[in-house]
Amino acid sequence: MNAYQTIEVTKLTPVIGAEISGVDLSREISDRQFEEIHGALMAHLVIFFRDQELTIEQHKAFGRRFGELHVHPNAPQDLPDHPEILVVAADKNSKHVAGEVWHTDVSSDAEPPMGSILHMSVVPPDGGGDTMFASMYEAYERLAEPVRRMIEGMTAFHDSAKAHGYRLKQNDRANMTLPSSEHPVVRTHPVTGRKALYVNRGFTTRIRQLPGPDSDAVLEMLYRHIETPEFQCRFRWRPNSIAFWDNRATQHRALFDYQGERRYGQRVTVSGDRPF
Ligand code: SIN
Repeated sequence: MNAYQTIEVTKLTPVIGAEISGVDLSREISDRQFEEIHGALMAHLVIFFRDQELTIEQHKAFGRRFGELHVHPNAPQDLPDHPEILVVAADKNSKHVAGEVWHTDVSSDAEPPMGSILHMSVVPPDGGGDTMFASMYEAYERLAEPVRRMIEGMTAFHDSAKAHGYRLKQNDRANMTLPSSEHPVVRTHPVTGRKALYVNRGFTTRIRQLPGPDSDAVLEMLYRHIETPEFQCRFRWRPNSIAFWDNRATQHRALFDYQGERRYGQRVTVSGDRPF
């Protein structure tokens, strides 16, 4: 039975991802639509919309329905009038792209973002540039019981210098910071109450309770586990597609298999709470 009255929801996989249709995000959404979209995000962890032509203001207005907008601590501010917009761009000269390593956004913040809303406007002409998403609920629940017991109560350091240290040399922003924070290795989702694995290759540097080599070994085991294909879905972008992911329950990875081509999107990021 479709429990939704104002939107249609089609699952991408049984584990993660759903496409939402029947809503025009360029218009103000009703409270009922907001509740249903939020409910779909909680149920499916990442939701996708097609054919959404949005101005920057409409994009930001949609994001603000879910919370305060986050300003990235060190990403270039390509649109000076819109510090909340993170530009995701690659062109014929790009050697790397943002998000090529599995990560959850800015987990180095003391209060990392709850969600990210990426609107893509230009996609490579021959395909490529998909984004992969993985469920951190599934990753946690599919760990062997002794491993779950071992990591319960542990904390890990997340450091923006690991993900973004290269930006210091580029010196492209005067007020940039490289935050670092300590978070539980297993976090509890504040809305669903489910437990999720919360370490990621992009930002996590060490588990506090373990000596360096042991921490490296355990983190590598967890990273490989997180990359299990059965925990994932993969989204193929079209111009005017949107992906909205819950950073508290997912990780993602941008594929860079379109060297020499252009891809352009803008992301609005919604602030979150301190993980517990
Ligand atoms: C990101 O990590 O926000 C970028 C995702 C993408 O480019 O697909």
